[in-house]
Amino acid sequence: MNLLLIGSGGREHALAWKLSQSAQVERIFVAPGNGGTATAAKCENVTISDSDLAGLLAFAQAQAIDLTVVGPEVPLVAGIVDLFQAAGLPIFGPVQAAAQLEGSKAFSKAFMQQHNIPTGWARVFDDFEEAADFVQSLDTLPVLKASGLAAGKGVILPESQDEAIHALREMLVARSFGEASATVLVEERLIGPEVSVLAFCDGVHIAVMPPAQDHKRLLTGDGGPNTGGMGAFAPSPLASPDFLSEVERTVLRPVIDGMAANGAPYVGILYAGLMLTPDGLRVLEFNCRFGDPETQVVLPLLESDLVDLLLACIHGRLDEAKPIWREGAAATVVMASGGYPGSYAKGKTINGLAEAEEKGCSVFHAGTALADSTRADTGLITSGGRVLAVTGLGEDLSAAADRAYAGLAHIHFDGAVWRTDIARPHKN
Ligand code: AMP
Ligand code: GLY
Repeated sequence: MNLLLIGSGGREHALAWKLSQSAQVERIFVAPGNGGTATAAKCENVTISDSDLAGLLAFAQAQAIDLTVVGPEVPLVAGIVDLFQAAGLPIFGPVQAAAQLEGSKAFSKAFMQQHNIPTGWARVFDDFEEAADFVQSLDTLPVLKASGLAAGKGVILPESQDEAIHALREMLVARSFGEASATVLVEERLIGPEVSVLAFCDGVHIAVMPPAQDHKRLLTGDGGPNTGGMGAFAPSPLASPDFLSEVERTVLRPVIDGMAANGAPYVGILYAGLMLTPDGLRVLEFNCRFGDPETQVVLPLLESDLVDLLLACIHGRLDEAKPIWREGAAATVVMASGGYPGSYAKGKTINGLAEAEEKGCSVFHAGTALADSTRADTGLITSGGRVLAVTGLGEDLSAAADRAYAGLAHIHFDGAVWRTDIARPHKN
C-alpha cells in the first residue's frame, strides 16, 4: 500500500514510524513532514501544506494513494474527509460534521448538554456587552474560550474580572483569533488533574487507548508559561479500569451514539480531554485527532498493526480488530529551543540522535529540518520551538522516564531546554 500522511509535527513522525512497521506498507508520502519524516523508513516528504486540500487531493489521485491518514485538526475541520470520500479515496478521520466536536466549542458544549455528558456549565456569546455583563454577574472567575480553532491558544484563565473583561474585548471586538473568536464561551472553571483518553472509533464500536497525561508548563515543577506540551506519559496512574469504563459509558458511548443519530457517524480518533474534579469527571474538550505529544507515548505501546486498525475503523469492523497493547509504560521528554514558547533561534545543528536510539529510545522529530532539504545525508538542524520528543519504554513509568532521559543525555543542540520531571511528579 502507498499511504499519504498529512501534517508536520512530532505526532506525525510517530504515526509515520508506526505505520512504516506494517508489512502492508510500501511507501509513505508525508505532506509536508519534517526532518524526521524526511529520513524515516519508507517515508518521503512532499511539499504540500496541510491546509491545501485541493493540492492534497490532486496528489492522492495522481499517486493512487491507498490510504490517507490525517494528523492535525485543521484539514479535518475544513472537510478533507468529505472531499476525499466524494472522490472515492480511502481516508482515516471524521467527516466535517463530526469534526465540529473540536472545530466548534459552542457545538461541542451544546452536544454534551443535549446528551448529558458530564461537563462544566457554559454560556455562549457573540456580543461583547452581553458577555461582559454575564462575567460581572458571576461571583467566581470563569474560563474564556474562543469557539473556533485557535492553534491551542484560544483558552484563557483570567486572574481577575478586569482581566476577563479585557480578554473578552480582545476576542469579541478586536477578533484576536479572527473568526475563531467571533463566538466565545464563558465556562465554569474546574479544578483537578487532567487525563487524556483517546479511542479508535468506527462509527459504532470504540477501542480505548492507554490513558495519557501531558505536561503543559515550560518549567520543571510546573512553573512558567503554558506550551504545546513539554512531555507526556502513559498509562496514567489516575485512570483505573473502573475510571476507564466510566469514561466509555458516560462520555465516549454517548458521543458515538449521538453522532450516529445526527447522521454523522464518528469515524476516526476521538480524544476526550478530561478533568478529575472533586465532583467527578468532567469533559474539558474533545479533539478529533491524535494528541501531540500523547501520540509519542501511546503508539510505542501499541503492538498491533496500525494500518489494520485504521482500515477496520473505515470499514466499520473495529469489533473484529481489537488493538493489543504492550505491558509497561512509555514516557516522552520534549527538547525545545531556548526562548520557546516565545521567540527562539533556528538552524542549530542537532547531534547525538543515533546514540540516543542506541540507548533504546525512539526520537520523534517536531521542529527539525534537513540542513539541505534536497539531500537526506546533510544532517539535521532545528526549525521550530518544540524540536524533538525522546520516548522511552519501561516496565513502569519510572523505568520509562529513566530510559528517555538516558537517551536525551546524548542529544545536543545549542540552547536546548527540557523539563527534568517528566513522568516523575515528585522528582526535580
Ligand atoms: P482545552 O483546549 O479546552 O483543553 O483547554 C486547554 C487547557 O485549559 C486544558 O488542558 C485545561 O488545563 C484548561 N482548561 C480548559 N477548560 C477548563 C475549565 N473549564 N476549567 C479549568 N481549566 C480549563
Ligand atoms: N496534547 C494536547 C493536544 O494534542 O491537543
